[in-house]
Amino acid sequence: MTDSTQPVLASGTFAIGGDLEVHRLGYGAMQITGPGVWGEPADRAGAIATLRRAVELGTDFVDTADSYGPYVSEDLIREALHPYGHVRIATKAGFTRQGPGQWRVVGQPAYLRQCAEMSLRRLGVETIDLYQLHRIDSKVPLEDQLGLFAELVEEGKVRHVGLSEVTVEELRAAQEIVPIATVQNLYNVANRQSEALLDHCAEHGIGFIPWYPIATGGLVAPDGPLTAIATRTGHTPAQLALAWLLRRSPVMLPIPGTKSVGHVEENCAAALVVLDDATYAELDALAAP
Ligand SMILES: NC(=O)c1ccc[n+]([C@@H]2O[C@H](COP(=O)([O-])OP(=O)(O)OC[C@H]3O[C@@H](n4cnc5c(N)ncnc54)[C@H](OP(=O)(O)O)[C@@H]3O)[C@@H](O)[C@H]2O)c1
Repeated sequence: MTDSTQPVLASGTFAIGGDLEVHRLGYGAMQITGPGVWGEPADRAGAIATLRRAVELGTDFVDTADSYGPYVSEDLIREALHPYGHVRIATKAGFTRQGPGQWRVVGQPAYLRQCAEMSLRRLGVETIDLYQLHRIDSKVPLEDQLGLFAELVEEGKVRHVGLSEVTVEELRAAQEIVPIATVQNLYNVANRQSEALLDHCAEHGIGFIPWYPIATGGLVAPDGPLTAIATRTGHTPAQLALAWLLRRSPVMLPIPGTKSVGHVEENCAAALVVLDDATYAELDALAAP
């Protein structure tokens, strides 16, 4: 059913790794933690309600990381959504946390192993649907970091492997070690620094998960670049930003983040927005040169 009760279904599907089918418009669970992605959210009940509302609206692809909180986001996902049924949870490993807004990369295989075992336990699953290396650690050989991911796949603890914030060259090198099903890079209508990677992913059937799809709120400011088009078309700026992403590529899996039920409803409804060619081109032209 594709209607206003389950708008996300209108975003179409993508098969992660060729066999894990999700609807393309997902949900990013980083915002349901405290300030600086640290600690508990101010409104715990609101965070739970937001996760459940996303799924009611058809969302079946939820992105998180052990470092969000840390642990808070995964714990809330389990409390709100377990058992997950058809909903696929993607999580990540490789960042340690020292306080609000502080992140340090650690890619030692022993640490990544612990991250995986603890995410399995926290999420309450036997297999992580999509496990992403949050950042490549330049101090550790790539073979060691992704070799551990390959072991997890072999053991049945991980179904598909993803990367985050990589170049085409890094993706190619990673593919030599373990099949890569997705990449997750900063990308939105105003920031196309990962355009070459997106094109590479489209060519090879690799899912592209744009983080900051609405520029962490920057694209929805009243004086933002989308306001005039939003006023004219009757859609909201967030909906235009997401609709542009969905139309940009069939491998695009946007994961807008919000701690608000109202915003999750608005964002999910973006899947119903059909951009005509002229509006798509106008949005396309917003990219910084
Ligand atoms: N791989 C990585 O390194 C990486 C880095 C950052 C993020 N991520 C992932 O990407 C996801 C998305 O990134 P993000 O959450 O930082 O950025 P985003 O989705 O671009 O923007 C989220 C921000 O926009 C606001 N917002 C959301 N919907 C809105 C709407 N309809 N109208 C007005 N404001 C709205 C949210 O505030 P409210 O909560 O008040 O709605 C929040 O402040 C994260 O949840 C996380 O899963 C990955």
